[in-house]
Amino acid sequence: MTREPRADAHGPFHAASQAQPNIALIKYWGKRDAALNLPVVGSISITLDSLWTRTQVRFTPEQTYDRVSLNGRSDEAEAKRVTACLNLLRERAGVAWGADVASQNNFPTAAGLASSASGFAALVHAGANALNLQLSDAELSVLARRCSGSAARSIFGGYVEWAHGQRADGTDSVATPLLDADAWPLRVAVAITSTAAKQIGSSEGMNRTARTSPYQSAWIDTQEADLATARDAIHARDFDALALISEHSCLKMHALAMASQPGLLYWNGATMECMHRVRALRQQGVPVFFTVDAGPQVKAVCAPSAIEQVKAALRDVPGVLDVHDTGLGAGVRAIAKDAVEA
Ligand code: DP6
Repeated sequence: MTREPRADAHGPFHAASQAQPNIALIKYWGKRDAALNLPVVGSISITLDSLWTRTQVRFTPEQTYDRVSLNGRSDEAEAKRVTACLNLLRERAGVAWGADVASQNNFPTAAGLASSASGFAALVHAGANALNLQLSDAELSVLARRCSGSAARSIFGGYVEWAHGQRADGTDSVATPLLDADAWPLRVAVAITSTAAKQIGSSEGMNRTARTSPYQSAWIDTQEADLATARDAIHARDFDALALISEHSCLKMHALAMASQPGLLYWNGATMECMHRVRALRQQGVPVFFTVDAGPQVKAVCAPSAIEQVKAALRDVPGVLDVHDTGLGAGVRAIAKDAVEA
C-alpha cells in the first residue's frame, strides 16, 4: 500500500548522513526486550572522529522493495536489518515506499569495530531526513537503538550515556551526551588483529550469554555502580579512575561471555598480547587503557601526549596488522548527497 507522506513533504526524498562508531567504556551486553531492543544494563561510550560510515537513502514512491549496497556489495543478512530499520521510519511517515541505500565505511565491517553503531545511526538520520520527518535527537536515538543498540549512542558526539530506562515502551532508553569531545580530547589507537568477519554477532552472543552464563545476574547487579564511577571520572576528567573502571567493565563483559555454553571467545593471541602491552605501558606511567568489544580488535584509549608511543607499542605486537589512530568526534550529521557513491 502506498500512501502520501503525512507531512507536507515533497521529493526527491533523498538524503545522506555521516556517523562515527562509538566505543563503549562501560559495556552494553544483554537485552531485556528483543523486539524493542531494550538493554539489561545502561552503558557509556566515546564517539570517534576519523572512522566513519556515510550513507545515502533515496525513497521512491512506486518502489516496493529496498536495494541495499554496503561498501559496494549486497549482503542479504545486512539488507534484512536495513529493511527492518527503514520500516520503523516508513511507519512514522505513513508510507510504504521502497528505498535505495548505499553505505560506505572507511574501516573493516563486522570485525568488532562497531560498524553497526555508525551504520544504523547514519541510516536512521539519512532515512528520517529523506522522509522529511522532523525528529529530535532523542527520537533518533530511540529509533537507532531499535536497529542496533550501540547505534543509539552514535547519534551524539564525545562522551555519551545510553540509559537502561524504565518505561515498557522504551522511550526513555535513550542516549544523552555527558561531556563534549573538546572538553576532554582523549585519543584512541585501534589495533587491528584480524580483518575476518566475526563468527558470532553481538545479538546472538548476548542471547547465548543470557541463556547459559551463570554470571548474568552478577553482571546486571553490578552495572549501576560501574556507570556511576565512570560518570564521575568523566566529569572530573580523572584518567586513572576511567582507566580502571573501563578495563574492569571490558574484562567483566568478556568473562560473562566466556562463561556461556559454548563459551564465547572473541579474542585471538594478538588481542591478549595487546592488552598486556597496554598494561605494561600504564605501569611505566603512560596514561593508557584498553577496551575490547565482540571481536578481536583492541582499542587503546590514551592522553593525546601518549598516542605516538601507544601506536608504536601496539605496532610492535606480533599479529597486529595495522593500527588506526583517532580522536573523539561529533554525533551524526547530514552531508552532501554526492559524498556517498551510489
Ligand atoms: C560489545 O549494538 O552490536 O560492542 O543491539 O544486538 O545490535 P545489537 O548489539 P550491538 O552490541 C554492541 C556490544 C558491544 C558493547 C557496546 O558497544 O556497548
